[in-house]
Parts: sequence; structure tokens; C-alpha cells
Amino acid sequence: SDQSAFDTDVWTLTRFVIETGRQAKGATGELTQLINAMLTAIKAISSAVRKAGLAHLQGMAGAVNVTGDDVKKLDVLSNDLVINMLQASYSTCCMVSEENKELIITPKDKRGKYVVCFDPLDGSSNIDCLASIGTIFAIYKRVSESEGEPTEKDALQQGNNIVCAGYALYGSATLVALSTGTGLNFFMLDPAIGEFILTERNVKIKPKGKIYSLNEGYAKYFHPSINNYLKHKKYPEDGSSPYGARYVGSMVSDVHRTIAYGGIFMYPANEKSPKGKLRLLYECNPIAFLIEQAGGMATTGTQRVLDVQPEALHQRVPFVVGSPDDVNEYLSFVQKYP
Ligand code: AHM
Ligand code: MG
Repeated sequence: SDQSAFDTDVWTLTRFVIETGRQAKGATGELTQLINAMLTAIKAISSAVRKAGLAHLQGMAGAVNVTGDDVKKLDVLSNDLVINMLQASYSTCCMVSEENKELIITPKDKRGKYVVCFDPLDGSSNIDCLASIGTIFAIYKRVSESEGEPTEKDALQQGNNIVCAGYALYGSATLVALSTGTGLNFFMLDPAIGEFILTERNVKIKPKGKIYSLNEGYAKYFHPSINNYLKHKKYPEDGSSPYGARYVGSMVSDVHRTIAYGGIFMYPANEKSPKGKLRLLYECNPIAFLIEQAGGMATTGTQRVLDVQPEALHQRVPFVVGSPDDVNEYLSFVQKYP
């Protein structure tokens, strides 16, 4: 019958998170609550990105204000959603968002033991042209005394301390990549039931890919060693085929492709941006954690990203990630120079 095609024992992300939580020693369920709150925010962002309810909103805008000023911008809406959902989960003490200059301190009566660093809607230049965008997050345990006020120190932890990280990609489908430190898993949103379904378990990146990805328009400002590497990708001296080039300009999209197909993604330093563009706390660290969980590498060019000791909430680092052979090859080019 028709029903036979319907899986009645699916692994949803909610189920996965509950199970992982139960297996953890001494777990109180607080992390499960936190991750579930993040997933609710992601579902709401996905729905807004896909313009659900737009007819209604347009109608209202037409009636009240033709410019639609009453309708919140997607990035602001996404930020509000994440902050509100996370605070309501009673599991955070403070957060860092790309959208907020200062540390966001959870009201005293709603505090829990976790710290979350997130970019609610990354790829801002892609919002208005409807290309893929994403959400990125990393979760840490609080390090300051639980009786006192949370401080920036709680957020300025090495990526090595990450308890859980993930990203949501609002692409041709909505996908969540999540890891709690025991491998990387992919979940696809089934809009019919509003649940993420486990579609790939223990994802591994290829040792070597065929695609390189960066904003090569900045070549004029790159260090010569980077341009040497790029030349090698396009005109290999060893008779191998040149690499293909792909660059969406949304990190989640470019990174997800790199994990799915292999290859290298980078946002290196350049003369105009001596530390590159990407932010350590809520862009680079979570992605570095996930890539390593998949067997890939993430480096600043001189150091493993997860080893960097953060000094400021919004600090930037040069960022190079992907298949291990490709990242090592990149390093062999840039390390020839002092
Ligand atoms: P954003 O946080 O303002 O969206 O900037 C981050 C994005 C990344 O998703 C992407 O990798 C990068 O900026 C692209 O920058 P550029 O336009 O310089 O290539
Ligand atoms: Mg961003």
C-alpha cells in the first residue's frame, strides 16, 4: 500500500539529540534543551528565508505602510529569534552574536551553564539576490563561577573547548550539520512535518578534492605565496588536471560543498584585510570543529584554528579549510616563505 513507503521509525534530529544527551555521563538534559531551542530558531529562520507568510505580510504592508518598513529585515529577525529562543531554554548564561557589539548576558532568572557564539544569518551579501545563506553556532561550557555574573572570558575560549557546533544551510533544501564531538551528521528539513531527518551519519570529507574556492578578485592584495598556490591549481606543473573554481560568497554554502565534494575553501589575509574577513568566535571556530570532525583540516596558515586563543569577541582570522591533502598542499606553498 501507499503507507508502506512511510518510515515509522525515522531518526529525527530531535531524537538524535535526546539519545546523544542520554548517553553523556552526568547529563542533566540542559544541552538537549539548548540544541532544541536552536533548532526551533533555525526552522523559523528557514521559513522566513523562504518567505512563508509573505502574502499576509505584503497585505499588511500595503494597508499600513507601502514601503514595508514594518517588516523586519531578515538578519535582524534571525538574530531576535536565536536570542529569544536560547534565553527561553534556560540553558545559557551569555552569548556572542555577529549582530551585537557587546556580550549578550542572559537575564538572571533564565540562566544555565552554556555559552553560545553564533552568526544568525551569514552571507548577508546573498540575502537580496536569493542565493544560499546560513546560520552558524558553537556551544561552550561556562568557565566563570556560576554564582557571579558571566564575563567576556566565558566567550573567549579556544575552539578546542567546543561542546557542540553546527550550521544550517538555507539552500535548495534546508540542512543542518551538527556535531557534539563524536563525528559529523547531516539532517535535512522535511517541511511537511517540520522535522530534521538524519540523512548522513558520520560524514567524512575526501582526502583530496578537485575544487578550490575563494574570492580571487582580491589577488592583487594577496601575498605572492598565495598567488603561487592559485597558479599551481590552474596550471599544474605535474601534468594533473587543473581544479574547478566555485565561490558562492556564503561561507556555509562554500563550506558545505567542500565537505560534500572535497577540495579547499579559504579566506586568506590580504593587504586590505590583514586578518582576512571571517570572525573567529562564530564563523571560523564552529566550522573548523565540524571540518575536523569530518576528517578535514582548518588552519590560519600558521596555526590550527581551534588552537587560537581568542582576545576579542569579534576578532578575525585568516581561514583555510578542507580536504587534508589540499590544506597540506596549501601550507607547503605558504610555509616556503618566512
Ligand atoms: P557576513 O557575515 O557579512 O555575511 O560576511 C561573511 C561572508 C561569508 O559568508 C563569506 O565567506 C564572505 O563573507 C564573503 O566575503 P567576500 O564578499 O569578501 O568574498
Ligand atoms: Mg557572518
